[in-house]
Amino acid sequence: MQELAIFGGQPTVTAGMIKSWPPISQEDRDAVMAVFDSNIFHGTGAPNAVALQQEFADFIGVKYCLVTNSGTSALHMAVASLGIGPGDEVIVPAFTYWSTAAAVLHHNAIPIFVDIEDDAFCIDVNKIEAAITPKTKAILPVHIHGMPAAMDKVMALAKKHNLLVIGDACQAHGAAVNGQKVGTFEDTCGFSTNRSKNLSSGEGGFFVTNNEDAYRIAAKLREFGEVVVHGQTREYNAFGLGWMYRQHEFINAFCRSQLKHLPENNARRKEFAQYLTAELANIPGFKGPYTPPGREPVFFSYIVRFCPQELGIDATMAEYKAATQKILAAENIRLGQWQTRPVPGQSVFQMMEGYGKGCPWTCAHYGRKIRYDENDYPVTLKFIASHAYLAAVYPPNTMDLMKKYIEGFKKVASQPDKIRKVIADARKA
Ligand SMILES: Cc1ncc(COP(=O)(O)O)c(C=O)c1O
Repeated sequence: MQELAIFGGQPTVTAGMIKSWPPISQEDRDAVMAVFDSNIFHGTGAPNAVALQQEFADFIGVKYCLVTNSGTSALHMAVASLGIGPGDEVIVPAFTYWSTAAAVLHHNAIPIFVDIEDDAFCIDVNKIEAAITPKTKAILPVHIHGMPAAMDKVMALAKKHNLLVIGDACQAHGAAVNGQKVGTFEDTCGFSTNRSKNLSSGEGGFFVTNNEDAYRIAAKLREFGEVVVHGQTREYNAFGLGWMYRQHEFINAFCRSQLKHLPENNARRKEFAQYLTAELANIPGFKGPYTPPGREPVFFSYIVRFCPQELGIDATMAEYKAATQKILAAENIRLGQWQTRPVPGQSVFQMMEGYGKGCPWTCAHYGRKIRYDENDYPVTLKFIASHAYLAAVYPPNTMDLMKKYIEGFKKVASQPDKIRKVIADARKA
């Protein structure tokens, strides 16, 4: 039996084998350098901005797309462009990134959280109805870790209650439900293109919609509340509150170049994920993610479930997870933690400060007393405690790395006594 690296053996994966995301080609470099030569660096009517919007709209299959400087700004535009504001509630999953809820708060509306599904990690549609009040205006499902939410069910429920649907697809470019891409179901939807995302340009985002009114409002929000039409004299007249959510041409050019490779990169992620999940199914102690029927994830993150009971290890989940993360890290197999608590457990929701003086919760338009308690979201708590994401399950890494990962998981799972020792040492420390 091979000695574990943590006890002096050879690591399964050599550190140099792991490549970072995104893959950068000469084509990417040339695209960015060409912006210098063009001498056009910014503007919503700049050539790369306009072309990128069309190309991303075509990729998703929507009528309108606006490029933004972040996913957070795109989500804010997605909320605000539908007329959601003071006194309104928006239903959001408890397991997400803070920005999802922030986008609601940024327009003075109130996020109401709902727990996630037991078997996947998106909003539990069966729990949405209990959260609907006369103030509810929209449901904001998040396609998390690349897993699309159950959009067929979300849309049916929204129709029943006459609610709008806003998508957070920041982690799910190209994910689909029954063959239909996320971003096309929703009234409005936001995407991120920050460094780690399936479509990466360092920073950035997209607002998408099929609704012309929402598109026009979002365009004003993006640029100071003004109507700025490329080729026409600027009026310098704000029609309402606006922000500065424009993107830079360097990034637009880089993003266009990356977008060309999105389908093939997503296909590689899927291939790696399918291999890992099939292999982990036979390795006690660790399991891959479950994909509900009809949902087509794009594996932004490859999620691993920790299963101490399969190895007969008598320890808490936290002890087993910490020990195996440490053992696998020594093998250069990194299992990272994304989110440490349900979003309603974050300090901002405990303090309910927002803009200060209790706003927006104390806004006279709201008038409801609510509280946020992370213990109201047991599935999210359990999910966070028992899962982590496996690093570098993306190109330019190859199947060789995935095979090494599996070799490492097998090596660790075949030595439960060594896991027990690491747990016992941690208890003593
Ligand atoms: C689910 C989710 N929503 C929103 C965001 C915000 O995107 P950005 O960082 O581009 O503002 C992110 C990005 O980290 C995210 O993962």
